[in-house]
Amino acid sequence: MKSLKPSQPSKASKQSKRSGPATTRAARSTAATGPIEAPVEPPPADRRSIAAAALTRARHRTLALTDCLTDKELAAQHSPLMSPLVWDLAHIGNQEELWLVRRAGGEPALRPDLDPLYDAFRHPRADRPALPLLDPEQAREYVGRVRELAARVLESADLGTGGDPLLADGFVFGMLAQHEQQHDETMLATHQLRLGEPVLHAPAPPGATDADTLPSEVLIPAGTFEMGTDTDPWALDNERPAHVVDVPEFWLDTVPVSNGDYLEFIADGGYAESRWWSPEGLRHRREADLTAPLFWHRDGDTWLRRRFGRVEPVPLDEPVLHVCWYEADAYARWAGRRLPTEAEWEKAARHDPAAGRSRRYPWGDAEPTPEHANLGQRHLRPAAAGAYPAGAAACGARQLLGDVWEWTASDFLPYPGFAAFPYREYSEVFFGPGHKVLRGGAFGVDEVVARGTFRNWDLPIRRQIFAGFRTARDAAPRDGR
Ligand code: AVJ
Ligand code: FE
Repeated sequence: MKSLKPSQPSKASKQSKRSGPATTRAARSTAATGPIEAPVEPPPADRRSIAAAALTRARHRTLALTDCLTDKELAAQHSPLMSPLVWDLAHIGNQEELWLVRRAGGEPALRPDLDPLYDAFRHPRADRPALPLLDPEQAREYVGRVRELAARVLESADLGTGGDPLLADGFVFGMLAQHEQQHDETMLATHQLRLGEPVLHAPAPPGATDADTLPSEVLIPAGTFEMGTDTDPWALDNERPAHVVDVPEFWLDTVPVSNGDYLEFIADGGYAESRWWSPEGLRHRREADLTAPLFWHRDGDTWLRRRFGRVEPVPLDEPVLHVCWYEADAYARWAGRRLPTEAEWEKAARHDPAAGRSRRYPWGDAEPTPEHANLGQRHLRPAAAGAYPAGAAACGARQLLGDVWEWTASDFLPYPGFAAFPYREYSEVFFGPGHKVLRGGAFGVDEVVARGTFRNWDLPIRRQIFAGFRTARDAAPRDGR
């Protein structure tokens, strides 16, 4: 495994005062303590060492997701929805070369010939296996060489806020760590689609010990809150700027909709009954012949699911996973409810009424720990609905971060005053009614990505992503308030 190397004097001369011992210490400590657990000592002290740790953790995961398969499996297309894993691997390196090494670091191009091959906008996923891609060994070598150059840029870059906005607070390093982790999650989805012997292993997540004591829904009183952020240094363009939103009073499910809940919808003929489905949902349900979540099948009276190569009974208490937006929307209508809007979701997740401010995470501003949320691919499944009491939001809702991405009612749209940064193709080209917003982050989301302001999006037909949902309803006038 390649990791960020301690300082080498060659490139550091232009800002030698910026490449102090903190970089060296952080690189050593992350290499010694492993990629996913927090460093034992000393904790990351500044943006430079946080950036080094985030990049190293992402790379460890990338290599773990690719080293476990043969070259043949890495080059294969496991689903027309996905790239071959070896494409994701080299694309990770190519983006790092483009943005971190060339653009931010001002370094000459290493492999400009690769740019068109790994440009996601040039070739749809289905066409990628036919491209003259690097083979797995070449791809590993390429990403390793790019990382060595990136490590030198990190050592010498001026991360002050007065200079290049790409470098300010280490943004471009955070952006690339998030990019790599997002592709790692995409690769995890490819692993889930892959047929064959299991190659991924992880312990079971914690249970939900007090789930029966929880109210089924929580009330979020009417009022304004601050949505989005101006201050989070690694927030992406679509999370900005912060703006005040007035949200009418509403009720939100305390926990995500479970497989047991969803089975009631199936048993009640929910898929067959047209009135629960939107017109587009109905059309898609017929065309795609939807009858249950992806990866589920029935054996007599028992529902089974395939999870990373293992077939097991569908666990009733776990949040439902691998449903598309149309299915979530139909379930909510069947339940006499609706999906929450994106603003409702973020208010429930972040608003602290006592302090009158928005938190970074549901539980506060402290970085996630394994007690707060099911993140970081520590487990290969969601925890039972109702788990993680320490991660509850101020409103009492649980598991808003981690476990499953949550479909919201909202289209992916820019916030007022949005400005694309650093490139239109990250967010701007996806704005519009075609994409629905997902919030919260699933078990395979790293903490460099998981924050209360993060926005994910996808087509309403997509089911291979790790998406579930929870439902909401208006408070007034039904409650006579
Ligand atoms: C934000 C997850 C929708 O995977 O298409 C990766 C992230 N952007 N490379 C995606 C992304 C460019 C993006 N999502
Ligand atoms: Fe990408």
